[in-house]
Formats: sequence, C-alpha cells, structure tokens
Amino acid sequence: MKFVKIAGLGKYLPSKRLLNSDLEKMVDTSDEWIIARTGIEERRIAEKGVGASGLAYKASQIALERAGIDPQDLDLIIVATITPDTQFPSTACYLQDYLKAKKAVCFDMSAACAGFVYALVNAWQLIRGGLYKNALVVGSEVLSTITDWEDRSTCVLFGDGAGAAVLTESTEPGFLSAYLGSDGSQTDILNMPGGGSRNPISSEVIDNRMNYMKMKGNEIFKIAVRIMVQAANKALVKANLDKSSIDMLIPHQANQRIISAVAKRLSIPKDKIYLNIARYGNMSSASSAVALCEAWEDKKIHKDSIVVLDAFGGGLVWGSCVIKWV
Ligand SMILES: CC(C)(COP(=O)(O)OP(=O)(O)OC[C@H]1O[C@@H](n2cnc3c(N)ncnc32)[C@H](O)[C@@H]1OP(=O)(O)O)[C@@H](O)C(=O)NCCC(=O)NCCS
Repeated sequence: MKFVKIAGLGKYLPSKRLLNSDLEKMVDTSDEWIIARTGIEERRIAEKGVGASGLAYKASQIALERAGIDPQDLDLIIVATITPDTQFPSTACYLQDYLKAKKAVCFDMSAACAGFVYALVNAWQLIRGGLYKNALVVGSEVLSTITDWEDRSTCVLFGDGAGAAVLTESTEPGFLSAYLGSDGSQTDILNMPGGGSRNPISSEVIDNRMNYMKMKGNEIFKIAVRIMVQAANKALVKANLDKSSIDMLIPHQANQRIISAVAKRLSIPKDKIYLNIARYGNMSSASSAVALCEAWEDKKIHKDSIVVLDAFGGGLVWGSCVIKWV
C-alpha cells in the first residue's frame, strides 16, 4: 500500500459580497439575529451563469501550481458538489476540459456538506491502492442558485465558493485514517425536493418553491453536534491518536454555535479550530476545502501537524479524516 499526502491547496471565492445588512432588505431578519444565531457576517455570491466548474477551475489552478503538478499528469478528478453545472455531464468533466487534464478519470461526489471529506477519502484510497498517482479533489458550490431568497430561515446561511486539494503518492503518511457515516432515514430534514427524477422541473415544482433547499434547522443542529464529535473521535481512534494530539481542527462551517459545541465536547482550544464562517457562511462541500486551504495559508498548519477534518450534511452524511502534514 502507498502513502498519500496533500501536495497543494487552492481556493476561490467570488468577489461579490452579500452582507447581513443586504439581507435585512430582502427578508424579515437582522444583522444581530444572524450573528448571534449563526456567527455569519457575510457570504460570497457567484456571477450569474458561472457554474460550480468555473469556481472549481480557479481554485484548482492555484492548488496545482502550489503542488508543482501539471494538469496533464492528473490521473483522477473528483468534484464534490450539490450544485453541479448540469445534471450530467459531471462538473468534474467540465473541469477536466478547462484544465486540459486529458488522462484524468473524472466524476462528481454527492455527499452534500461532507462531500469534500468523502471525496478526499475516495482519492486517498484510490492512490493508496496503486490505481492512480495524482488526484485533484475539489469542493465547489454555487448554493445561491438553490437558495430560497424569500425564506429567512435558510437564506441567511449559505454562500458560494470553491476549494481544491492535490493528492499525490508520498514517502511517508500523510493520510492516517478516516471515518465516514450515513443515515438515509433522515433524508427529510435537509433536502431539495424538486429538480430530480422524482419531481422533475415543472411549473408546479417552481410554484411550490421545491427547487430550493429545505431544512429543519433545529433538528439538524442537535444531530450535527453529536455526529461530528463521534466522527472525529472514531477517526482519531483509527489513527491511534487522542483528541489532545489535534493541532488543527477543520470543522464544516455550518453554524458557529455548532462548532463551539463540538470544540467544547472534544476539549479543543479556540486557537486549534479554523473558522471562516463569519466571512463566507456555509458553502457546503466547499466549506471544509476553503477552510483547510486558508488554515494552511495562515500558517496554522506546519510540517507534522495533525489536521482533523470533520463534516456533516444532508443525507444525512458525515465524515472525519486525520492527516499528518508532510
Ligand atoms: C437555522 C438556525 C440558525 C436557526 O437557529 P435557531 O436558534 O435554531 O432558531 P429557530 O429555528 O429555533 O428559530 C427561532 C426563531 O427565529 C426565527 N427566525 C428564523 N430565521 C430567522 C432569521 N433569519 N431572522 C430572524 N428570525 C429568524 C424563527 O422564525 C423563530 O421564531 P419564533 O420563535 O417566533 O417561531 C439553526 O437551527 C441552525 O444553524 N441549524 C443547523 C443548520 C445547518 O447546519 N444546516 C446545514 C447543515 S450542513
């Protein structure tokens, strides 16, 4: 079995900022409420007509350059997204074309906000098993296209962005362990009911606003804290590590209060948790990817740092992976 490491990280955030004060003009909400209940101050919004592949391309170019890997040497591209450019072909195929990564095998990963962690684990295992050498893993979302801008209970939460990681073979590990989980009995608490094969786009779907995300926020909140703590603990046990060995926790950025509750239960001090929710809101699969990239850019991750990614999302799905920075 091969060892695998992350060789380069990149991110891209659209320049358009949507502030809480802008949302105050759109729905019955307030800057105070949003900050107190979520920790979010602003989020980014992609230009009309720019798909997930467009954001992914910009983040990927940076990650590849930092990794020193030519796109033509990529064997695999996985894009985690719930806002693909089109139902098919996959966003990964569009990205392959932009990058001219001709020999790469491409597919999308549908695991909502845990998508980047799920995709990392898949790429890690495919390199580990010897099938591929170089992989590009991207979390990219244009959530603004599936957000109901008339629903104050959801529209304050989400934003657009992309983060990318290049994975390669390594002489030392790298990826140490992972724990993934799913619970399909909870599909009703976070979903988008319209636009798929069950309720294809129709005037009825649009009239009933079924082409937007629906969420039972309170229910998710309680489950999220429990499963994120459980996932991190299980991944750490698999790596033969204790929670005291975490140098940097990269939690999914859904709600500042969820992150604080997770950190408290894992007894992790504030300076070992990366937070960017105030600036970007919840970007689903892009959240962990951008947070990991920024933690590295901010020099919070060094050689030999133990980094733990910890995410959950609609499905329900959740996952954590432990990486030693080499
Ligand atoms: C959505 C969330 C922020 C709501 O916070 P909360 O403290 O649970 O708030 P509640 O849903 O209990 O609502 C409390 C009140 O605020 C109101 N409210 C909801 N959204 C509001 C908004 N944007 N502005 C002002 N008031 C709002 C509600 O209508 C409710 O009013 P009521 O008491 O008169 O009925 C929180 O539940 C959450 O973050 N859940 C997790 C969501 C998540 O992680 N989703 C992504 C998973 S990947």
